[in-house]
Parts: sequence; C-alpha cells; structure tokens
Amino acid sequence: MEKVPVIIDCDPGHDDMVALVLALGSQRLDVKAITNVAGNKVMEKVVKNTLNILNYCGAECIVAPGASRPIVRAYTRTDSEGCHGVSGLDGFDFPRDNPLKPSDRKAVEVMAEILRSSKEKVVLIGTGPLTNLGLLIRTFPELCEEKVRGISLMGGTCHFILTRPFMEFNTYLDAEATKIVFESGLPITMYGYDVTYRTLFGQDFLDSLKALGNRTGLMMSSLLQEFWNMHNRVWIDLGGCPVHDACAVAGIIDPSVVTKSERMYVEIPTEPGPLSGATICDYAHRSGKPENVEVVFEMDNEKFFRMILDSAGALA
Ligand code: RIB
Ligand code: CA
Repeated sequence: MEKVPVIIDCDPGHDDMVALVLALGSQRLDVKAITNVAGNKVMEKVVKNTLNILNYCGAECIVAPGASRPIVRAYTRTDSEGCHGVSGLDGFDFPRDNPLKPSDRKAVEVMAEILRSSKEKVVLIGTGPLTNLGLLIRTFPELCEEKVRGISLMGGTCHFILTRPFMEFNTYLDAEATKIVFESGLPITMYGYDVTYRTLFGQDFLDSLKALGNRTGLMMSSLLQEFWNMHNRVWIDLGGCPVHDACAVAGIIDPSVVTKSERMYVEIPTEPGPLSGATICDYAHRSGKPENVEVVFEMDNEKFFRMILDSAGALA
C-alpha cells in the first residue's frame, strides 16, 4: 500500500513525542519533514527536543525551525514548568551529545518545497500552535490548494472544558493563525479535548512500553510517567493521562480508529475578550454557516494504543 506523505509541525512536548514516534515507526506514513513551532516551549527547546527524540529512536528526518512567536499576538509562554517541565521533555535524560542538526532553512520554505516536488498530495499534521501552517497558507495559497490533501490537527474543543470554555492551548496561543487555517477551505480534521480526554493511557500502557524491550519503549515510558505526574499536578487527576497530539497522527495512519466524528462550522473569535482564540463549534448546526471542520469525538482506544506500541516497537 502506498505510504501517505505527511509533514508534522510540532512543539515537543511529551505528547508531540508520542505523535512523532507513532508517525516515524509507522509503515503507512512517509514523514517528509518535521517542522517546529514555538508553543509548549521556546523554539530553541522544541528543536532540541525534536532532535533528541529522532536521535534516540534511530530515526532520520529533516527538522526545520519555524516561527518563534505567533503571527500577531505576543508569545506568552514562560519557562515555568507547566505540564512538560522546564525542558519541555522532563522525565528522561537524553545523551548529551547529539550529532543531528536542524535545517538552515525555515519551516515554511521546507514545507513549500515538499509540496511543490511531491507527486502526491501531502497531509499536514499540526500538533502545536498553528503559526507555521497559517503562514504557509497565507504565503502559498495556490500551492496549498493544489497539493495539501488535508490538515489533521490536535487542537480546539467542542464540549470538553479543561479550564476556560472552548479554549485549548494550540488554538488560542496563535488565534489569528488558527483563524487562517480554519477559514482556508482546506479539509480539516480537528482532534480536540473532546476526543483526547477520552483517550487516556494508564499504568498498563506504560508497562507495555517497557515490555517492548527497546530503548524507544523505555524512553517513552519514562517520559510519559513524568508527564502523567505533571499533568495531575497542573490540571486534574482523571485516573489516566492524555496523549493529545498522537490522536492527530493515528487518524491518518488508520482512519478506522476514529469511531465518532461530525462535520460542523467552527468559528475562531480573535477580537479581544474572554473568547479570543476559542473554538466555537456549531454542533447544533444553527449558524447557517458552511461546515468547515470534521470534529472528532471518539476513537477506538485499544486500536489507538496498539498502534503506538507497534510504531514504538519498530524503532530503535
Ligand atoms: O492542549 C494540548 C496541546 O498543547 C498539545 O499539543 C500539547 O503538546 C500542548 O502543545
Ligand atoms: Ca503539542
């Protein structure tokens, strides 16, 4: 079966790490490039984390740094711990020496070149703020129209409220970029909190990662144990822990993993106020506005976590 060409734009991040392992270890995807965006942590840290993940898992891929701040609004993240720790990937000591280096070209340049040269349409997977994807769409609208098969993104929320109504980190941090993406007319599948907080891992999954008997599994189990601890401290203890970003990859590897989704109109307010950067989902279909997003609500959890184990087992 032909591999699906994808570009992953991310801000590792523990769950971005799972998304990268899932994609890089899958026989179904051809990861053409990994691009980084300032999100969980500043650009320097997310690039370093990306290269550490690749190096440790024995995977190779171009890594291109992108935007170091949102398109319009300020970059508001501090170096505080948050749920990814100070490094952005607390919980595992990667080897100090890493021979891998980032590209000297910027994310949008690399993305555009891949789109131009690809015979197949390419899937863009976003697991951080949508700054790079928004800039790509604004800079190369015709190229995106012709060569982007769709955008699979972790972001937003329809009903699930973690802290503030309709707010999710990736979509609010750069709300203007989110608005560009959601109004682009490109096919968008949104994996928001409604599905990611239904797709929690527990101790048995961590034990299964260790039981793989390879370094990738051991690295993942150590990082995810720490992520779980931090998530419980920063947010809420749900008896399990989400791996938000991996959901956006799983649906491209095997669409049958999605068991419930619905197409609807989603609006991104950007004017100042309590809803700036929210994902306002017209789930009652009353706006009269054209549906622009497939919102995912449920996945087959057993199949999802099996996919992650299979990919992790295929790496070093
Ligand atoms: O809200 C979850 C999202 O924010 C995930 O992408 C996580 O990595 C953080 O970036
Ligand atoms: Ca992320």
